[in-house]
Amino acid sequence: MAAISYGLENNVFVVTGGTRGIGLTLAKMLLEQNAKVVICGRKQAGLDQAVAVLKGEGNLLALPAHIAKAEDVDSLFDQTLQTFGRLDGLVNNVGMNIITSVVDADPSLWQKIIDSNLNGTFLCSRRAGQIMREQKFGKIVSVSSLAARRSSPAMGIYGIAKAAIEMMTKVLAQELALFNIQVNAVAPTMVRTQFSQPFWSNEDLYAQIVKTIPLGRIAEPEDVAHPILFLLSAAANFITGQTVMVDGGASAI
Ligand SMILES: NC(=O)c1ccc[n+]([C@@H]2O[C@H](COP(=O)([O-])OP(=O)(O)OC[C@H]3O[C@@H](n4cnc5c(N)ncnc54)[C@H](OP(=O)(O)O)[C@@H]3O)[C@@H](O)[C@H]2O)c1
Repeated sequence: MAAISYGLENNVFVVTGGTRGIGLTLAKMLLEQNAKVVICGRKQAGLDQAVAVLKGEGNLLALPAHIAKAEDVDSLFDQTLQTFGRLDGLVNNVGMNIITSVVDADPSLWQKIIDSNLNGTFLCSRRAGQIMREQKFGKIVSVSSLAARRSSPAMGIYGIAKAAIEMMTKVLAQELALFNIQVNAVAPTMVRTQFSQPFWSNEDLYAQIVKTIPLGRIAEPEDVAHPILFLLSAAANFITGQTVMVDGGASAI
């Protein structure tokens, strides 16, 4: 694909969970747009590896943070402002799943999945929303999933959390609209990352999955990153409270 300019030069973006997968690809594409990027993850080794791959130099900050911990989130945004002086966008990219049914889940397992997916998205959106409200500009994009709309036996709690993130998107869009802040989400089908590797790396499972996707393949991280870049750009200034399906047509059939 020919390079697309999204007009994001010198803009500052926090991408949670940018050490691998969709977040890492998005961070790379933001740096290629000459934006400034802050990524976070829980593991220092992942952060070090991402820094080596991204080669962002003065435009990249890689910080350890568990997004379900309020003190980590405060520090993430404080360091972003100290280093880059403003916040143009937040991408709530972190997501995780632990395979379980809902009915048999221990409450501590429920809490763990809800913490990283939903509570973390709340804590980051809350802090970013406060900063952006002062500035009177900003964009928040969250990464949901097709699992928010389709029940899946192994991903029930995750899907419940993602459905709540889509509602949070609408609520925040309304709360922040008058401050020139747009809040949206993207909802991908399966994406070729470590997260879903057990599914797409199995030939039989892959064949079954692509039968449900009209475009006949799963998504690559770039397929998800491009709509996020659009939603972060001025081209999307009149779009808010929406979840864009990035699913190869899966939800259309
Ligand atoms: N891949 C798919 O098939 C698919 C489909 C639909 C939606 N999605 C969504 O797309 C988003 C990105 O997924 P992905 O496939 O790129 O995942 P991934 O490859 O597993 O990467 C997840 C990233 O999040 C970080 N992370 C996880 N929990 C964290 C926490 N509590 N605090 C801070 N960082 C945390 C990880 O680093 P550490 O481990 O070091 O913390 C890593 O950088 C997620 O929201 C996911 O739900 C993925």
